Amino acid sequence: MELEDCQSEKFATRVIGAKFKKEDAHGAISMPIYRNAAFEYPSSEAIANAFQNKTDTHTYSRISNPTVENLELRIKAASGAENVMLVSSGMASISNTFMTLAYAGSNIVTSPHLFGNTFSLFKFTLAEFGVEVRFVNTDNLSEIESAMDDNTCAFFCELITNPHMEIADLPKIAAITKAKGVPLIVDTTIVPWCGFSAKKQGVDIEVVSTTKYVSGGATSVGGAILDYGTFDWSKNKKLSKVTPTASMSAFMFKIKREIARNMGACMDSETASLQALGMESLQLRFNHMSQTAYELAQFLSDNDKVTKVGYTKLESSPYKKISDQLFPSNPGAMLTFNLATKDDCYRFMDRLKIIRRATNLFDNKTLIIHPESTIYGTFTAEMKQVMGIEDNLLRLSVGLEHIEDLKKDILEALAF
Ligand SMILES: Cc1ncc(COP(=O)(O)O)c(C=O)c1O
Repeated sequence: MELEDCQSEKFATRVIGAKFKKEDAHGAISMPIYRNAAFEYPSSEAIANAFQNKTDTHTYSRISNPTVENLELRIKAASGAENVMLVSSGMASISNTFMTLAYAGSNIVTSPHLFGNTFSLFKFTLAEFGVEVRFVNTDNLSEIESAMDDNTCAFFCELITNPHMEIADLPKIAAITKAKGVPLIVDTTIVPWCGFSAKKQGVDIEVVSTTKYVSGGATSVGGAILDYGTFDWSKNKKLSKVTPTASMSAFMFKIKREIARNMGACMDSETASLQALGMESLQLRFNHMSQTAYELAQFLSDNDKVTKVGYTKLESSPYKKISDQLFPSNPGAMLTFNLATKDDCYRFMDRLKIIRRATNLFDNKTLIIHPESTIYGTFTAEMKQVMGIEDNLLRLSVGLEHIEDLKKDILEALAF
């Protein structure tokens, strides 16, 4: 991977320099917050033209909004995607994507090692609409290939699985999905565009929880859907009926003109404004947090009370080789570690003074959670086994605090 594409200082320059679609009437250098529901037109013909998509203007903020559109342009500049659509959460980005692609009788090939709500969406919610989920071991390429058939609407995976810390070999999987005519859809929430280039790795559609790195410190909840314009949607039985336009693929056309506006999970302008500001410091925060995460992973590996550490850059990770290939710097600010028992995990968490007991990822504050009893707490023991959730595992999302303070907090909490 060429550094310039995702990792150089040019990233921040590109994001900060992304132009507004229309010049601001007052010369504002940050996009104003358009906190209005509707947009007025000078004549009945003009508003009719806008509703019939004959003009590229805004009519109603559930459908589009200038502040939200401005963040979409920044994400396009950051990622190199052909088209970007923002929605109200990371889960909305996944559910809207699959409402667009999937149909009764279709199937999704994926790992069972998924974020809890994504697992539940595939296994329970979409199942009731006649969509089948086929779980495979993503380390086994021939299993992936043989699970796909004419009704496979997507191969889906998370960039680094959470909390298992596994990496699917995207370049090899992209070769399979291309040959099979199946879109490759990846949830890249765990490493942002300045640390990973989905475009370079053959990803067709990228979904992201912008709640995490993009929001600029857990300011707001949001999601993004990125289309790299690389997939021939005539291969999807549903989208083959949609005619693409010069500016939108059949996928983007369907999601923007029908699915997202019917589902109604739009991003609001205040969130877009906060997240546009978050984009300006994204590279700086990512570099700092992920370097601290790498050093903490090494530090935890040396502690006798810690039985295992999950961070894919460590020599001990079976995914080290692919991690180094996909991530030119560090593979993000999330790490996991195991203690001897669940009781030890609780004991450790309750003694922490700086690190916060909270869910979420990539806040400026360091957060810890015991996934088995929280994110996965309402799943049955049998499901937890399918999902590979261990009860002696902790997940740490590393923030911006000084590393020595974090090490001290960890060491003191481990002295039980
Ligand atoms: C990998 C991943 N994808 C999606 C989501 C869902 O994002 P949101 O909470 O913004 O809906 C999360 C949330 O933690 C996540 O970790």
